[in-house]
Amino acid sequence: MPETAATATPPAARLWGGRFAAGPGADMDRLNRSLPVDFRLWREDVAGSRAWAGALAAAGVVTFAECDELQAGLAHVAARLSTWSDAEWAAAPDEDIHSLVERLLYQEAGDVAGKLHTGRSRNDQVATDSRLWALGAVSRLDALLRDLQRALLEQAELHRDTTMPSYTHMQRAQPVSAAHWLLSHAWPLARDRERLAEARDRVAVLPLGSGAIAGCPFPVDRVLLQETLGFRAVSPNSVDAVADRDWVAELLFVMAMVGVHLSRIGEDLILFGSAEFGFVRVSDRYSTGSSLMPQKRNPDAMELARGKAGRLIGGLTGILATLKGLPSGYNKDLQEDKEALFDAFDTLEALLPAVAGTVRTLEIDEVRCAAAVDAAMLATDLADHLVRRGVPFREAHGLVGRLVRAAEEFGCSLDELPEDLFVKVSPHFGGADFGSLFAPEASLAARSGPGGTAPDAVKEQIAKLRAVL
Ligand code: ARG
Repeated sequence: MPETAATATPPAARLWGGRFAAGPGADMDRLNRSLPVDFRLWREDVAGSRAWAGALAAAGVVTFAECDELQAGLAHVAARLSTWSDAEWAAAPDEDIHSLVERLLYQEAGDVAGKLHTGRSRNDQVATDSRLWALGAVSRLDALLRDLQRALLEQAELHRDTTMPSYTHMQRAQPVSAAHWLLSHAWPLARDRERLAEARDRVAVLPLGSGAIAGCPFPVDRVLLQETLGFRAVSPNSVDAVADRDWVAELLFVMAMVGVHLSRIGEDLILFGSAEFGFVRVSDRYSTGSSLMPQKRNPDAMELARGKAGRLIGGLTGILATLKGLPSGYNKDLQEDKEALFDAFDTLEALLPAVAGTVRTLEIDEVRCAAAVDAAMLATDLADHLVRRGVPFREAHGLVGRLVRAAEEFGCSLDELPEDLFVKVSPHFGGADFGSLFAPEASLAARSGPGGTAPDAVKEQIAKLRAVL
């Protein structure tokens, strides 16, 4: 039986095969191979393998001399892979990154390579690798989110005194400062970062040492592995550990939520940048032209921000559908997790810097913003004036409503109505300072409590945001 007895060298690109009479067909291989996706886990695979070699030595499964050979071999594998070109990656025949690293380890370290996979399975290995990768990706994502928050904050600081309309139901509502509007987009990102930090805790649970499903029969020190690899805890159940992708779904949710927030920033800037609004001008750097209409300047970056949200939401719903109904333990369905995860991170890694750049280079037209605040937007302030004179709000609302109707009938704006009409509608308008009643700045300044749009409140808001940056 020369084939089984001859040598410890495994088949070229597969880690299994002893019990098979035939290898997989080309069609099966094409479907089954995950190397084109999981190749990017090579650093994590090497790091996990080095930690595992150490754990095997400490457990007495390999000698310390063998461990040294494995360590040196893995270091060489990493050094080789770090120089690989796209063409070299494309030419690798291996089933997945774990098979590839082990094959190269044979080349570097010889037969001792065959001892590394003792007590370990690709099931706990891939879960470990992808969690490790995600820990790094979460940090990068957090930094990108923070940078966008900074861009919003920098703009807000320039526009604490710029007055603009706010909208409810997309109808002019009340004046706010442009800073207040800008910061309204920074706080959702603060919540995203909180969610990311919380999800990170659940990502940082080590599956290694769970084996294929039932655990490891050798006395490896999982806590030491956890510490070596920078995890927070070890998984408490091996059956769960090899199947748990809750953390993938959670990260995909957080990223979908980020996508929704970026989409809403995009929508505001698209709308406010249109000729009809003219509140903002998106820099040429983040705009594109039309191949047909010479005058066009399109806010493509913001449209892509809006569009990519759909893709991120799709990633989340996809993984949930994949996980639903899986029997316990590892199933190959789980191989689908990485493509969704990588795609979501890649999408945000491309999108977030462009959104931050768009915000940083945004021109806010203070004159157009202020001009869009009409007197009707101060109707609530008129009612509040009556409230301060002792009129119940509901009644004040009705009285000012009559003034609004009168202005509509006269075809004038609210502040153009004759003063005696105000007094006729309510004697409490007698002696009022109409100049300041119709000053948007006064409306802003009145809203001085925490979370309000008054310049001082916004100043505090900026300080609060600075604290989370
Ligand atoms: N490529 C696989 C994945 O991404 C690795 C785990 C394979 N495990 C197995 N028993 N075939 O999930």
